[in-house]
Amino acid sequence: MKTFISPDYQQLSEAVAKNVIDCVNAKPNALICIAGGDTPLGVFAALVEAQKQGRVDFSQTQFLGLDEWLGLGKADKGSCREMVWSHFFDKLTLRDEQICFFDGLTDSPQAECQRVDGYIAQHGPIDCIVLGIGMNGHIGFNEPGASLNNTCHVIDLDPITQTVSVKYFGTARDVKQGISLGLKTILAAENIVLMASGEKKADIVAQTVNALASNAIPSTLVKTAKRAALYVDKAAASAL
Ligand code: GLP
Repeated sequence: MKTFISPDYQQLSEAVAKNVIDCVNAKPNALICIAGGDTPLGVFAALVEAQKQGRVDFSQTQFLGLDEWLGLGKADKGSCREMVWSHFFDKLTLRDEQICFFDGLTDSPQAECQRVDGYIAQHGPIDCIVLGIGMNGHIGFNEPGASLNNTCHVIDLDPITQTVSVKYFGTARDVKQGISLGLKTILAAENIVLMASGEKKADIVAQTVNALASNAIPSTLVKTAKRAALYVDKAAASAL
């Protein structure tokens, strides 16, 4: 897996955005998946700017959500839906049918998994996926120990993930489960961008690079994919 180290978060975000833009320019109806969470916020801003400047056209692009906290919806600050819409989808002019995103408020998580798997069967494989790395190495909500055979599924969240989640919500919330694309779907993507920023990610970035690929640290599995790259800023690369 190639590693690209940018001097700061801004340049990191622009480098990742360029990867997505190149993908869409090569294939206008590409299926793109970008994580929620803090890491890609700069990428969203760079992509919105690129569309404004006419450097990319998302009018044919399909967007797929990576994951969601079960029980949370768009009205919940810090949900994946709230973050991705407010920083990205609301700033583009997209048609509803261009977006497939987990509904965290669903009454039937299993049916929701089937719906999203059906969408991927129709539009997939994913052409470009941008993943954040959780503090425990999770990608999406594929926590340590996750099965490599999983497609969309419901997950009991790792205690580390539950603790970290406070940063999104501003307060502790009772989030015990997530719904996520599985490792099978993620690792089948044509192009995987693993992204991390800041010193707090330095340790898990070093483990991702140095440890053998195994589901004990899901982010290491990206190294087994056919085309994958790690994009980090200097701070996140400081333990490499
Ligand atoms: C969160 C999200 C993921 C995200 C990852 C890293 O829990 N479910 O989609 O990529 O963990 O989050 P962050 O970018 O905020 O560090």
